[in-house]
Amino acid sequence: MTDVAATIRSYDLFTPEAVRDPMALLRRMRAESPVGWSPQLQAYVLTRHPDIVAALKDRRLATGNLTRGFDRLSQEEQDELRPLRESIGLWMGHTDPAHHVRLQQLLKRYFTPATIDTLRPQVRQITNDLLDAVAPAGRMDVVTDLAYPLPANVIANMLGMPAGDRQRLQAWSRDIAAVFQIADIGALRRAQRSTLEMQEYLHPLIAQRRIQPTDDILSVFVAAQHDGTISEEEIVANCVLLLFAGHETTAGLIANGLALLLEHPDQLDLLRRRPELTPSAVEEMLRYDGPAGAVMRVSEQPVELAGHSFPANTLFHLAILAGNRDPDVFPDAELFDITRTGNRHTAFGMGAFYCLGAALARMEADECFRILLDRLPGIRPGYQSLDRDSDSPLGRRLRSLPVEWS
Ligand code: HEM
Repeated sequence: MTDVAATIRSYDLFTPEAVRDPMALLRRMRAESPVGWSPQLQAYVLTRHPDIVAALKDRRLATGNLTRGFDRLSQEEQDELRPLRESIGLWMGHTDPAHHVRLQQLLKRYFTPATIDTLRPQVRQITNDLLDAVAPAGRMDVVTDLAYPLPANVIANMLGMPAGDRQRLQAWSRDIAAVFQIADIGALRRAQRSTLEMQEYLHPLIAQRRIQPTDDILSVFVAAQHDGTISEEEIVANCVLLLFAGHETTAGLIANGLALLLEHPDQLDLLRRRPELTPSAVEEMLRYDGPAGAVMRVSEQPVELAGHSFPANTLFHLAILAGNRDPDVFPDAELFDITRTGNRHTAFGMGAFYCLGAALARMEADECFRILLDRLPGIRPGYQSLDRDSDSPLGRRLRSLPVEWS
């Protein structure tokens, strides 16, 4: 066991090259120093799959990363952003363990694969409606015309948000995603404004469900409030979380996944001929370029990880993207292969904080790709080069993905 810092190299994850092509740097880090140091993140970066799995399963590590990032702001900025910080502090996974389990128990039966399967007809309908709207034009921007509105509609329906409000919900959700960016004060202010607007929007809906419960998740929350299981502030904060988590990541899976197919025409052709491969294709999309490129952890006590000892209060950046291409675990790790079997990626995390929406995201992507390739067999790139968000090494988000078909 080596003491911290002795053999650990420092890396700049924020150079323009690293932001443009994070995998090149992450590959180098994994080979040179599987535990690296990021001065900007003030965190140790883990890049090997076994180390990431061990960290995800380690109960001595907490997720309190998002609100901890606020500590680096000035006192004035911290005061200004207190409402945002308090709201995030109530998100599932950011509360204390007992509370976390209570929320998981409340919600998990609505997100099991069997329950999620009952939503397939709805997902097919929404996908077909979205494609009907763009079919005559012979082109679309996959990000705005399909990848965002599909999961946004589904999660909003599950929660019980009126259909007419979808545009607003999408805009709020995009703003709130900024809390995952590195301390950009402008983005954090927008995230706070949208969080407060969503809070105002949700209070009357909660009051309505109290009088007239329906079969949506908002009504489940309201019933739990009646039992004293959760408070109104927690309902609001977790609706914000579910709306945002339900939009952003699945949109990323659909857009990144289609981009991968377009960049690998042999795999696109194979999937078109053999749609029964769609579930394994979705797993490979998640492994190769999953939308959650990294998650953060903080040690609550001294820990040994990846052959080093770390004190309490150490931040860790678990580079899921790098671990999912670890050649010691995944044969031909740099090959995008939709027939891959035994694909033990960590795109949805692992252990106590495993993604609540994994079955939902998988089902939405499965239906979406089947319908898309069936209806638009001649789909081809309508772009010169991929238009990725370039403001953070953590995000692998596509800003747009123009495609055409005949
Ligand atoms: C492709 C789509 C998705 C990806 C890649 C993804 C990824 C992740 C990851 C990596 C985590 C673990 C975070 C950590 O360990 O710190 C997580 C947690 C979570 N995800 Fe997802 N997610 C996706 C879709 C969804 C959807 C559709 C929903 C909501 C309906 C959702 C809700 C959540 C929630 C509530 C948690 C926290 C779980 C807990 O702490 O118990 N996710 N997700």
